[in-house]
Amino acid sequence: MAAPLGTLVFYSDFDDFGTWKDALQAQLPQLQVLPACAVERPEDVHYAMAWKPPAGFFQQMPNLRLIVNLGAGVDALVGRADLPAGVPITRITDPQMARMMAGYVLFAVLRHARDIPHFEQAQRRGEWAYRHPRSPQETSVAVLGLGQLGATAAHEVQRQGFRTLGWSRSPRQIDGVACFSGAETLDGVLGQADIVVLMLPLTPETHGLFDRARLQRLKPGAAFVNVARGALVDQGALTALLADGHIGSATLDVFAREPLPADDPLWAMPQVLVTPHLASVAIPSSSARQIAANILRVAAGEPPDNRIDPARGY
Ligand code: NAP
Ligand code: GLV
Repeated sequence: MAAPLGTLVFYSDFDDFGTWKDALQAQLPQLQVLPACAVERPEDVHYAMAWKPPAGFFQQMPNLRLIVNLGAGVDALVGRADLPAGVPITRITDPQMARMMAGYVLFAVLRHARDIPHFEQAQRRGEWAYRHPRSPQETSVAVLGLGQLGATAAHEVQRQGFRTLGWSRSPRQIDGVACFSGAETLDGVLGQADIVVLMLPLTPETHGLFDRARLQRLKPGAAFVNVARGALVDQGALTALLADGHIGSATLDVFAREPLPADDPLWAMPQVLVTPHLASVAIPSSSARQIAANILRVAAGEPPDNRIDPARGY
């Protein structure tokens, strides 16, 4: 029988503990998996798997060896005061999660490219409002952020025949995607795109990157899709530019404040689709194997895969 691995503590207000416990223990039966509220001996906890745990959460566990972020974006973890020094932080890097995100992005891109917001509004007025469709090649889509999820989404978008541009920090190559990198190329990319899709991590460099001046660089009437983080964008400026028509329509999954407050003007804008931060999620059945492999690596004194760089912020 394999030696016990110790305890993994689980914290998430969004993910189901039982499903994750079953998925992890199918890989590692010798691992004890407990919800945070059931931990009696914090000194036995070697592994934490968490999504937005409360402040002070990590301080209670003096023998942590690995922190698994229960998602892709680590902005809610990086920079916390309670992170134990030297303990590696990993993220979920799962093709199924990327596929789920690419599906959402494709839905949003097709929705804007096929003028669906226009037809939805016309239907409510009982109006037969014909608009001649454009071919995908006539529509340019810029995917900003070409990471684990962003690159998959850009690939799917180009597969549909859209003229696809990508933007990242360092140079990337994706077949069929015109890739640009570096801050100095961003405005040029924005100025070419009919649909802009935000897929950047929230870091000190990207926080507020889409302020009023930058949003004004979008082509008049362009569509804006944000599946990354609300704090990348000046939401007041975005709302004003949607109201005056400079930005034609938007699909927004993430917001400056979540849940989006009930009195926020975005709710009532007919050209805006609001979804409650669910473009993609960590999937137990497909992610448990990589988490288990990392636990075994750390238990053997080896560095884990999918480690994030706290200094870089992603
Ligand atoms: P990732 O693998 O960390 O990749 C990040 C990408 O952004 C990389 O291409 C990176 O450039 C680029 N980037 C970072 N900082 C930049 C900067 N200052 N200028 C230009 N490019 C920059 O991220 P991912 O897995 O694709 O996920 C992206 C984000 O999606 C996550 O961070 C998270 O916030 C969000 N997300 C949202 C949901 C949802 O349900 N709405 C679900 C999952 C994830 P390099 O290639 O040069 O490193
Ligand atoms: C969700 O927003 C994630 O970053 O995984």
